[in-house]
Amino acid sequence: MPAFLSAAAVLLACSILSARVKTPGTPSEWWKKAVFYEIYVRSFQDMEGGGTGDLAGIISRLDYLQDLGVDAIWLTPCFPSPQVDFGYDISDFRAIDPLYGTLRDFDRLVRECRRRGIRVVLDLVLNHTSDQHPWFKASRASRRSPKRDWYIWRDGKGEADPPSNWCSLFGGSAWTFDHATGQYYYHYFYQQQPDLNWRNPAVRREMVDTMRWWGRRGVAGFRLDAVDNLLEDPALRDNPVLPGKNAFGDPNMETRHNYKLKENHGILRQLRQVADQDGLVLVGETYTTSIDELQSYYGTNGRKGLHLPTGYMLAMEKTLTADICRRHIAEMETLRGWPVWTLGNHDLPRAVTRYGDGVHHDAIAKVLGALVLTLRGTPILYYGEELGMGNNDPRRKEDVRDSLGALGWPNAKRRDGARTPMQWDAGPAAGFTHGTPWLPVPADAGLRNVEVERKDPGSVLNFYRRLIALRRESPALREGGYQDLNPADPHLLTFARTHGDERVLVAINLSAETRKLTVAAPALAPAASRAKVRLATAGDPEGPGLPETLEPYGVVVAAFPQPERGKLVPGPTQYEDARRIAGILGGCPPSPSAPSACPSW
Ligand code: NOJ
Repeated sequence: MPAFLSAAAVLLACSILSARVKTPGTPSEWWKKAVFYEIYVRSFQDMEGGGTGDLAGIISRLDYLQDLGVDAIWLTPCFPSPQVDFGYDISDFRAIDPLYGTLRDFDRLVRECRRRGIRVVLDLVLNHTSDQHPWFKASRASRRSPKRDWYIWRDGKGEADPPSNWCSLFGGSAWTFDHATGQYYYHYFYQQQPDLNWRNPAVRREMVDTMRWWGRRGVAGFRLDAVDNLLEDPALRDNPVLPGKNAFGDPNMETRHNYKLKENHGILRQLRQVADQDGLVLVGETYTTSIDELQSYYGTNGRKGLHLPTGYMLAMEKTLTADICRRHIAEMETLRGWPVWTLGNHDLPRAVTRYGDGVHHDAIAKVLGALVLTLRGTPILYYGEELGMGNNDPRRKEDVRDSLGALGWPNAKRRDGARTPMQWDAGPAAGFTHGTPWLPVPADAGLRNVEVERKDPGSVLNFYRRLIALRRESPALREGGYQDLNPADPHLLTFARTHGDERVLVAINLSAETRKLTVAAPALAPAASRAKVRLATAGDPEGPGLPETLEPYGVVVAAFPQPERGKLVPGPTQYEDARRIAGILGGCPPSPSAPSACPSW
């Protein structure tokens, strides 16, 4: 081959290769650069006056979200539903509940989001439907119904003896007897949420079509609910029983045969193929107890699983010390997959309350924001975190709206406390509704709200806004390498994030005392004096250099000059390197506070 032709062939091959190699930030991987924000639709903004949030309300607040710097919103289910589990019991997967609006409103929401560079991610409940879904109604109508096998129906072991000893996560047997057809149906959650039979190809096809249908309507992807429950042991073997009883008085058991079956991953891989074909992102509700387990959700042997499985391992820690955070970060750095950082959602008590000390509320709210917004990966914020909204449990039993909370009253008040109305202003109902809010507005809403915090430069809201803005312009913060700058410090988490020539130092005081800020890495110590603080909870200093101390729960983020030549800090952490660090730090053993198999709501 003539030389010029072979050179051209090499050039062509290179350009094909480079076109295939996707770096973070290419359009198809927008989610690597993004800050996600979960909206609990019932609680964000009500325009109708009925006391529950709606799509028109969300549209009216998009400018706020744009100003905050959010790139994607995850909407909790807004499909038609009897609302037994506030939308996680869907009766039609391809419509909008009139409570929240119409499909036209939804289309408008997508358009308005797009205008502001915000993507919409829907919460898709694959595992089950409402018992009011026409599929289930048809399924329970007769043993010979063509839809019978869309759900899991079985004979009991005997008179009044369900097919297995499996318990529902929401209490009692996971089997409900249907008198009309003389069989039991299976439900991992409430009895009004019968599990779909994912071994039936027709069910899979229907759900794939549903994903595509919403994809065509402009959604950017899905948060997949309860993916650990998709399949059950076909032989319905009993779960091993453990000593003691749970909060519902049911026997403790190892959920070996109806939770986290390995075969679930096959379904996730199938869904990923669809998502990749249609340019959709898949976020997974996956509570994991080890990094290896988390790894399995990203796929194995070259076959891709979820884009963004949320392991919730940091969020499951009872306390957040510098060492605990370090261990988690080091482990996450070993992932062959893009990390997700999140500390709260609509099922967990609000993080600022879980990690609060009753004294440093705002400071702790900022620390939590700093943790999720300065690490490599995709942060997912829960609405109101940016205001420092705390958990607000109902005071009286009659105010409880979550059935789980009513069951657990007064010891386990469950999830209402994390779902109270968004606090927009000091007006009646915090500006959330001009009617009666479906959950009581917290007592601090007069002082802790968007309007007040917007005007206060030291507010939690302005801290989040500034940090998100910093992150947006900083490849180092979003995707850079990680280096612990003082691994022995029990109080401060101090690390560098590096990308090309850009270096950022982050120091977070995880204690209630003022502490010295020290950089142990000798190669970096001299550069510390030339660091330029970009954001500090104590106020931005005038000149260069790092503060000598950090106030209780203080945070500082600083641009760090390049160390002298020859003393360069390693660039993006290599997996092997990070594995070594994680090994030295002892890895992340399932912590005593972490759940053994499933979240404890
Ligand atoms: C997980 C959701 O986050 C939770 O709110 C719901 O109750 C269960 N899945 C059942 O869908």
